[in-house]
Amino acid sequence: MIKHNRLMQEAYEREERERHVVSSDPFRLSYHLMPPVGLLNDPNGFIYFQGAYHVFYQWNPFETGHGAKFWGHYRSSDLISWKEEPIALAPDEWYDKNGCYSGSAVEHDGKLYIFYTGNVKDEDGKRSSYQCLAVSEDGVTFEKKGPVIHVPAGYTAHFRDPKVWREHGVWHMVLGAQNSDLQGEAVLFRSANLTDWEFVGPIAGSGISGLGDFGYMWECPDMFKLGDKDVLIVSPQGLEPDGTLYQNLFQSGYFIGKWDSKSHKLCHGSFTELDRGFDFYAPQTTLDANGKRLMFAWMGITDAQEQDQPTVKNEWIHALTMPRELILAGGRIYQKPVEELKALRANPVEYREVSLKGDGPSKFEGIGGITAELIFSFPKGVRGTFELIIRENVRLQYDPNTQTFTLERKTFKGDGEETRQCTLEELETIHVFLDTSSIEVFLNGGTEVFTSRFFPDPDVTSIVMQSEKQEECTIQKWDLQPFALEKGTDA
Ligand code: FRU
Repeated sequence: MIKHNRLMQEAYEREERERHVVSSDPFRLSYHLMPPVGLLNDPNGFIYFQGAYHVFYQWNPFETGHGAKFWGHYRSSDLISWKEEPIALAPDEWYDKNGCYSGSAVEHDGKLYIFYTGNVKDEDGKRSSYQCLAVSEDGVTFEKKGPVIHVPAGYTAHFRDPKVWREHGVWHMVLGAQNSDLQGEAVLFRSANLTDWEFVGPIAGSGISGLGDFGYMWECPDMFKLGDKDVLIVSPQGLEPDGTLYQNLFQSGYFIGKWDSKSHKLCHGSFTELDRGFDFYAPQTTLDANGKRLMFAWMGITDAQEQDQPTVKNEWIHALTMPRELILAGGRIYQKPVEELKALRANPVEYREVSLKGDGPSKFEGIGGITAELIFSFPKGVRGTFELIIRENVRLQYDPNTQTFTLERKTFKGDGEETRQCTLEELETIHVFLDTSSIEVFLNGGTEVFTSRFFPDPDVTSIVMQSEKQEECTIQKWDLQPFALEKGTDA
């Protein structure tokens, strides 16, 4: 029997009370993980443990704004049927009373160890942060063990989001940090036993290893091997927009390099954004049972527009992205929707090697929908401006003359449009995943990805193609069935 403390009880009661209003929302997603009520942000503790995937998430069950975060919990054996498990962590101790902030999970001696940041704000607004441990035998109930790391000298209290892994028999932890000069860093700790941690120093950061000014704070670092390289994913704050780059308030991206175990520095190349859409932040990866590197991210971001989302009036906001596999090729990370998602496909429609007319809109019978997967392949590339207009809200456009791909969506408030763009030398494939109010677009096999929420008229299902020149194209489309989502028996 699960022990519910008072805060957990209040969260369950609110979930119960608002269940009706939340589920009445036409924008509830069908194959993405969402909060049962309230606000979701970062994925946490993503791990394959005892034959199942566990993904936890930052959760404020009491409102659609940010606040003292809980860890909500979903579990799945196949990444497509999910079970809502009981709350893993509630902010109920002196060291985490203003939030059980982001962190990660590892398996040790058959138990699940989670590391998270205890966020504390004093009456006078002063912040403290503690890296905390909680342990579980069954992956469902957690016993908090309290802080294992305090902020070292030379850093501010913006010190959080532990990601732990084991390498050469030693536990390593990378953390997001701000140093006393107000520069963002990813810092490393080491441990032999998961409780006693030694501070090693920064592995990368703003002003380190040839990187210029690169943000005042780095959040949610994740470090792992991919192919023969070391990869550091991080979410820096404070980058200025630069052409089509860094258009969102905060970014998430990666450095590829070699980690030198003597100097502890990552010798790395330049920063590449993982996603070029509006809604992608704080990704986290894990290894699956077959050694594939999988990633979830928050399909949202904290910005001024957040509370303009129409779901807010129905007492919920945000979701996780769909899970993606990361692959290293040609010095870049490619993202691929996980294979498991193919099991959601139904009602295939295919137009093989059709010719799109060069003088206006084309509609194809059966190409449209609300929850659908579509693949547009251009065997000869795209020769003139090509557009997809989705549900009269999102416009995807490729212009081969300027080599620019654009995602345009209607703004959440008012009648305007807003865009995100990337440079793309050629367009060969557009792979689109549509859910009720989200779009994830993978270009050329996942070399560039655009993830965004959008809120179309729920009755509009059209997809219109528009090509300036005659184009050879194969179109494949499937309806996507919803996730099976079960409520945890003990919750
Ligand atoms: C990223 C983040 C993390 C923090 C968490 C709090 O979105 O700010 O750095 O741990 O969210 O919810």
